[in-house]
Amino acid sequence: MNSFLKKKSIDKNGILSFEISDEKTKKVAEFYNAKPFPSYKDDDNKYTILDKGDKNFLANQFKKFIGYKKNVLEVGCGTGQLSNYFAIGTNNNIVGLDPTKASLNLAKEFADKNKILNIQFVNADIFDDILIDDFFDFIWTNGVLHHTKDPYGAFKILIKSLKKEGYVLVGLYNKLGRFRTIFRRYIFKIFGRKIIEKIDPTLRNLKLDENEKVAWIRDQYIHPLESLHTIDEVLKWFKIHNIEFISSVPSSDFDYDYENIFEKKSSGNFFSRIINQFLMIFNSFGSDGGLFVLIGRKE
Ligand SMILES: C[S@@+](CC[C@H](N)C(=O)[O-])C[C@H]1O[C@@H](n2cnc3c(N)ncnc32)[C@H](O)[C@@H]1O
Repeated sequence: MNSFLKKKSIDKNGILSFEISDEKTKKVAEFYNAKPFPSYKDDDNKYTILDKGDKNFLANQFKKFIGYKKNVLEVGCGTGQLSNYFAIGTNNNIVGLDPTKASLNLAKEFADKNKILNIQFVNADIFDDILIDDFFDFIWTNGVLHHTKDPYGAFKILIKSLKKEGYVLVGLYNKLGRFRTIFRRYIFKIFGRKIIEKIDPTLRNLKLDENEKVAWIRDQYIHPLESLHTIDEVLKWFKIHNIEFISSVPSSDFDYDYENIFEKKSSGNFFSRIINQFLMIFNSFGSDGGLFVLIGRKE
């Protein structure tokens, strides 16, 4: 048994595997098994993934902040681009967990091909509560919990495995900020792919290949399970579990300082938080699906 697992796993081609039994998780995993997300380009390698990660302002700051010799967990790692990015060139121990087998096969294949050794993939449902308590220094879960039957229930489980003084980053679809995507979803239903390729900012990015485009369209417009959330909701989760608010994107106050997201910021008030989430409808934070992110530290 691995030191971070409290239940016995089966090794399937180097992936630590558990049976997925929950019907809702199975349905979501089947959806991603048909088309793993976010998928790789045929010519992706260590250097392209490093370059992509460095250009992602959240992932880049997260990786720098982690430092070295840390235990890092990504819950819902999908095809593992970020987990692999966090592992490349460091001596951190990275764990990527996801119930979708096809996605993890791609993640593992990429790690093996590029000789990334400090990473382990776990095929499991977060609700199966397989991780030991107080183990990870950092937990990243972005774009995942809103695709589960109970996002707060999933948070409650994953946060147990975070060490005291460890950091968690949670990214969820925003109730206000996802407005543009929801509007485009109706357009997609009526007019189909051709129109959506013209109006979706991610699809207009010429660097995406066909694989990535199909994975994005499915993820954004025909997903079988998704929910919408607010900063205040996650602040409540943080409070219940003694997680100190560090920062959010968009900002919770009117400071708009995204240069160092691990520096403690003001959590503002209900009014400032609502305004900033409402503004996502019009600014760049709402253009790629309307994700908002909260970072917290376990007290
Ligand atoms: C939209 S993808 C996000 C992938 C990756 N985090 C990213 O940002 O590219 C959502 C992922 O959540 C995973 N997921 C869904 N339900 C889950 C659960 N119950 N436990 C863990 N991961 C889950 C899916 O398998 C899928 O890979």
